[in-house]
Amino acid sequence: MSDTRKIIIDTDPGQDDAVAILLALGSPEHLDVLGITVVAGNVPLALTERNARIVCELAGKTDVPVYAGCDRPLRQKLVTAEHVHGKTGLDGPQLPDPQMQLSDGHAVDFIIETLRKEDTGTVTLCPLGPLTNIATAFEKAPDIVDRVQQIVLMGGAYFEVGNITPAAEFNIYVDPEAADIVFKSGADIVVLPLDVTHKALTTAPRVQAFRDMGTDVGRMTAEWTDFFERFDKEKYGSAGAPLHDPCVIAYLLQPDLFSGRHINVEIETKSDLTRGMTVADWWRVTDRAPNALFIGDVDADGFFALITERLSRL
Ligand code: RIB
Ligand code: CA
Repeated sequence: MSDTRKIIIDTDPGQDDAVAILLALGSPEHLDVLGITVVAGNVPLALTERNARIVCELAGKTDVPVYAGCDRPLRQKLVTAEHVHGKTGLDGPQLPDPQMQLSDGHAVDFIIETLRKEDTGTVTLCPLGPLTNIATAFEKAPDIVDRVQQIVLMGGAYFEVGNITPAAEFNIYVDPEAADIVFKSGADIVVLPLDVTHKALTTAPRVQAFRDMGTDVGRMTAEWTDFFERFDKEKYGSAGAPLHDPCVIAYLLQPDLFSGRHINVEIETKSDLTRGMTVADWWRVTDRAPNALFIGDVDADGFFALITERLSRL
C-alpha cells in the first residue's frame, strides 16, 4: 500500500476508541494500520487489550497486530472511567470473547521498532488514551522522536475546560507527566481536544444512521453509543454524547472538516487542583513557542457522514 498513510493507533477502548478503530480499519485505501498498541485508561489494561481484539474481530481485520502496553501511568495511580464506559469498557451490546491472540512483545517496543524500521517521517502516531506508551517509548528511545511523521491525539481542553476534574480532560489527567513529555518532545502534534469533540454529538438521527446500516458493526456502534451517551446527556443536558476519539482518525481522512490554531500548549503537572490541565495559549498572550495545532471546530454533519460511510463497508 504505497499511497496510504502508515499509522499506529494507541488506545484504551472505550466505546469511542472502538468507533475510531473501526473508522480506520474501514479506510484501507487511505490508512495502513501497522498495529494497535493498548494502554490502561478507561478500564485496566487486561480489559483494554481484550477490547481492542474484540473490535479487530468485529471489523474482520484479525491480521492487525494488537500489543499490550503500560498498565499504569508513569507516576500517578491509575484512574479509570467505568462510570462512563461501564465495567468492561465496551458496555452496551453483548460481545463474544475474542479469539485472536495478543501479539508477543510490549507495545512500547513495537512503537520503537516500527519507527526505526519504517522510513523516517512516514509513520503517524494516533493516541486515543493516556499518553503513557508514547512517553515511555520516547524516554526509552529518544532517537525515534525525529522519525515520527506526526502525532494526532485526542486529549486536553481549553474553552470546554475539564471532564474528569473542573480543570482537566481524562486522557491528560490520567498521565500528566507522560503528556508533558510528549508536548515538549518537539514532534509535530495535532490536538483534538474537548473543544472540538463536544461539537461532534451523537444525536438521535446520527445514531439511527448507524442502525440503518443493517450490519453487526452498525448495530454494535449504535448500542455502544446508547450506553455511553447516557453519562454526557445527563451531565451536560446535551442532545447526544461527544464522539471523541473518531475525531483523530477523521482528521487524518478529511482534515478540511476541522479547523484550529497553531499555539503553545503546556501541561500542568505540579498542582493537585489543576493536574493535567492543558494550558492552551489560544489568544497568544505569552511568548511561549507554538508546539501544537489545537483544533477548535468541526463540520459535524460531514464528520458523521464519513463515519457512517466508512463503517458501512465493514
Ligand atoms: O476525555 C475523553 C477521552 O477519555 C476519550 O479518549 C475517551 O475514550 C477517554 O479515553
Ligand atoms: Ca480513549
